Amino acid sequence: MSTTEGPSDPWVLRTAHTVYAVTLGGDGEGDGPGAGVWPELSVWGPAGAEHGPSPLDWSRRTHFVTPADLAPAEYIPHGLRPFNGADLIAGRPGQERGVFWRFVEAHQEADTALDLTFDDDVLGLRVTVRYAVVADTDVIRRWSELTCTGSEALRLERIDSAAINVPVSAGGARLTHLTGQWSQEFQFTQTRLTRGTLEFGSTQGVPGHAYAPWLAVQDAADPERGESSTYGIALEWAGNWHMAVDAEPGGAVRVRAGRVPHEGAVLLSPGETLRTPRLACAFSPDGLDGLSRVWHRYERRLAGTRLHRPRPVLYNSWEATAFDVRADHQLALARRAAAMGVELFVVDDGWFTGRHDDTGGLGDWHPDPALFPQGFDGFVDQVRALGLDFGLWVEPEAVSPGSALHTAHPDWVYRLPDRTGRRVRNQLLLDLGRVDVQDFVLATLDRLLDRYAVSYLKWDMNRPPTERGRPGPAPAEGLDLDAAHVAGYLRVLDHLRARHPHVTVEGCAGGGGRIDHTTLARTDVVWPSDNTAPLDRLAIQYGYLHAHAPHTMSSWVTDAPGLFDPRPRSLDFRFVNAMSGVLGIGADIGTWDEAQRAQATEWIARYKDVRDVVHHGDTHLLGSPQDPTCAVQSVAVDGSRVVVGALSTGRLDGAPLVPGRPDRLRLQGLDPLARYRDEADGTEYGGAHLRHVGLPLRWSAAHDAELVVLRRV
Ligand code: GLA
Repeated sequence: MSTTEGPSDPWVLRTAHTVYAVTLGGDGEGDGPGAGVWPELSVWGPAGAEHGPSPLDWSRRTHFVTPADLAPAEYIPHGLRPFNGADLIAGRPGQERGVFWRFVEAHQEADTALDLTFDDDVLGLRVTVRYAVVADTDVIRRWSELTCTGSEALRLERIDSAAINVPVSAGGARLTHLTGQWSQEFQFTQTRLTRGTLEFGSTQGVPGHAYAPWLAVQDAADPERGESSTYGIALEWAGNWHMAVDAEPGGAVRVRAGRVPHEGAVLLSPGETLRTPRLACAFSPDGLDGLSRVWHRYERRLAGTRLHRPRPVLYNSWEATAFDVRADHQLALARRAAAMGVELFVVDDGWFTGRHDDTGGLGDWHPDPALFPQGFDGFVDQVRALGLDFGLWVEPEAVSPGSALHTAHPDWVYRLPDRTGRRVRNQLLLDLGRVDVQDFVLATLDRLLDRYAVSYLKWDMNRPPTERGRPGPAPAEGLDLDAAHVAGYLRVLDHLRARHPHVTVEGCAGGGGRIDHTTLARTDVVWPSDNTAPLDRLAIQYGYLHAHAPHTMSSWVTDAPGLFDPRPRSLDFRFVNAMSGVLGIGADIGTWDEAQRAQATEWIARYKDVRDVVHHGDTHLLGSPQDPTCAVQSVAVDGSRVVVGALSTGRLDGAPLVPGRPDRLRLQGLDPLARYRDEADGTEYGGAHLRHVGLPLRWSAAHDAELVVLRRV
């Protein structure tokens, strides 16, 4: 058994409403050789939580493990922490791994930034553990910087960004995460963890459809909603990643999160510094719903001034025409869309040479003259003459094997020497980490955006890297292909912002395969899933809105019942559902009758009236898709308007058929003493009534959705 001394005075960081305090923990061996010291969490919670003993303080008694193994370490290497999961594994190539650092210095800027530096002089490694508060939010960004200070290169085998520690009671932790697969992204999933490790991530070169790089941690004994300490993390990384949650003995959960190098390790040359991706850490005292509002506010900040550009109502012809793109047909759809109040017409896949189906064309980004007999300019002009903006789909990283691009540059795709490259969706993937590939993509996009009046770009990516290599003189371990690809992707997105600021960018990867904070900071909207079937979409959006803000969530009204989910819902349902994000239409409106078009016209007008409240207000998720009635409620920043998009999921246990009472939704975030008037029928409700009695909803087989707009009187 060994015992350590108590913690030092903590460094304190403050966000808008929370406090985060860090101290130095140690193994109590003094300053002598082998002495261990590490940053340790003291407290994280609402402002004021720092007054009192740390919930993570402990006796420092250990047996068979070291004190470092049980400490709530904020970042700790293998070596110092030999058994229970380290955040950093490093060593000289071919030699034993293990970092044994000493504390060098702390640098704090007011209560908003902190750097803690540690050196391993034997190995020649400096590690700076960094914290930065994001102004006006309850988010702290954390990351690490690793510098090779010796004369020999280092091999970094695990390079996590940060670890977070959450105190829990004997029943362990409730973990909420977003899981799925293609067409079923963002499924709200809960796992109770009492002991052991839960690990998830992606090696697909993108965050992936299977798991979002996002996690919420609560004490399983606390409620999921309402007043409940809720801790969230999100990794800012568009490539391979992992999160590992360790439920440790003695009431603590520790989460390690970071990127995962494709080659299994990164080589750090003398003098070089590697900066890990940032881990955004959020806290809310108001359960999962409160945490979602913290993330929404954070993502509105990521959008910067672009938040205030209204997201246009789009029509996208993909579900109507697929690869059968022809100017006359597209124009017929555009005329119908314009008449309904749509603001933007997007031609999806299939507009360029060689793209008759998904077997060809990618890489040769020239409008196919056979599809646009009067020229592509003429076509774009005709769309714009209808009062619509024009948008285009591209998949810049993709290449079809038979394309001119692939013939000219077969070496631009990921490949392994002496191995055949597998095709996924009949296509190969460009190595966007190469500067010449990036330059090609930039030049292609510049050409299209300069040449044609395009004000919207949907950037898609439809296959992961498989035979991922870059044959050449450098040994595989000298490469960091995943990081290089991410850097190339961000370079192109940054270029689009700088060079074409008028272009709205939509991020997509076969649906929601590449949604993370680097993407959300550089795009205006993202496409969460290819699945637009009403009830499936509801579940996808429910999960999505826990992590991401409504102004980022592209959502289309399509033809029922949808590709995947045969459960029918009304057109009203599909509109109300899509209006909780950024509304678009993806149906084959060429087949819509007059009544459907009139209905759509009315919904689009109503959406334009409320979209500011939905995109900029406070969101409350009322109920879940498992309930008979659920809703997304948005409250305007000044509290003057409340928008409730209410949906009947069709379950009969909500509105009892026999007594015939309406179902009720208890609203949140209202002033109990104020009165609110329904803008449509003039009914007045007290705030306390809406909160405690609820907004009545009278569902029937034909009436399964309602948009209620209340104005504070
Ligand atoms: C992906 C996207 C779809 C559509 C098709 C086009 O699947 O997610 O929205 O753009 O590609 O091929």
